Amino acid sequence: MSKEIVLSGIRPTGFLHLGNYFGALRNYVRMQEDYNCYFFVANWHSLTTHPNTKELQQSVHRVIAENIACGLDPNKVALYVQSDVPEIAELYLYLNMMAYKGELEKTASFKDKVRSNPENVNAGLLTYPVLMSADILIHRALYVPVGKDQEQHLEMARNFAERFNNRYGEVFPLPKAFNYNSELVKIMGLDGNGKMSKSENQMATLYLADDDETIRKKIMKAKTDSGPTAPDSEKPDYIQNLFTLMQLVSTKDVYNQFESNYNNCNIRYGDFKKQLAEDMAIFIKPIREKAAEIQHDNVFLSKVIKEGAEKARESASKTLLLVREVINMNY
Ligand code: ADP
Ligand code: TRP
Repeated sequence: MSKEIVLSGIRPTGFLHLGNYFGALRNYVRMQEDYNCYFFVANWHSLTTHPNTKELQQSVHRVIAENIACGLDPNKVALYVQSDVPEIAELYLYLNMMAYKGELEKTASFKDKVRSNPENVNAGLLTYPVLMSADILIHRALYVPVGKDQEQHLEMARNFAERFNNRYGEVFPLPKAFNYNSELVKIMGLDGNGKMSKSENQMATLYLADDDETIRKKIMKAKTDSGPTAPDSEKPDYIQNLFTLMQLVSTKDVYNQFESNYNNCNIRYGDFKKQLAEDMAIFIKPIREKAAEIQHDNVFLSKVIKEGAEKARESASKTLLLVREVINMNY
């Protein structure tokens, strides 16, 4: 039996951080063993909000290096750059006819970006979910490992695929967001404000490139409070976030100890954060070192990117052939 198809992408808009790792990369690494995987750097998507391309090449190389440093094996997966696969752009064009202006304007990410950057509300931003759908559908992928913030985009991809299938014939399976745990992950910023993100407050974001000292500093500054006043109280979300991070990087025993301290109202946040910082530094160090080593190896990176594009185009061109056939575009 052929393996099920998986696809996901990350925009080259800055250094990767723990949100990217736990929302996306960690799943990629596990999935490469069991699925037919396509992972890519979404450089067209980055143009919707980052028109200045001075550092784009460096960013693309860094994202590829960080993907590999986290454990992706370019021999097991297709690891490629979006703009190397022109088939995606053609599918994007067809899918644009399946997408209605009203639903695009209502998309949460569009509304956020209009609010944060009102002077550049371009058509690419409006049709961002359509391009993302083309990324997924071009390989007829079934599973898309992403963080919780991408749920609505996935729902739109299913809608566009379904409309296409209904209008022209069954070409696309309906893709689903994927996480190994039943819930999609959302890592908050260390300041307790919104999701950890590439471009938000840098002190509130733990990057995979941060050195030990920076990691310590950021975690020791993380938002806490005066502690629980009644046993077994519910944790405020910024405290829960630190526990989530501890669960991800510390041993079970350490986690359980602090959990029980919290429940008994004798947690000392200073000690808790010190332990979290230690364990986080140990977790990030090998990723940082490996990424730094690969990032400037242009010969290796070019080879990975070229081979990735070949694998991706082979799959993409098969889908496009089918698409052209059902819409009577093959003359
Ligand atoms: P950013 O939001 O930092 O610009 P991207 O939009 O490129 O990052 O996201 C790449 C992947 O990382 C997506 O699958 C996204 O869902 C996931 N991701 C990003 N931030 C977080 C977060 N704070 N928590 C969980 N997953 C996240
Ligand atoms: N929109 C995604 C993000 O901001 C990046 C992305 C682009 C993507 N195309 C994709 C993710 C296809 C999954 C599948 O995180």
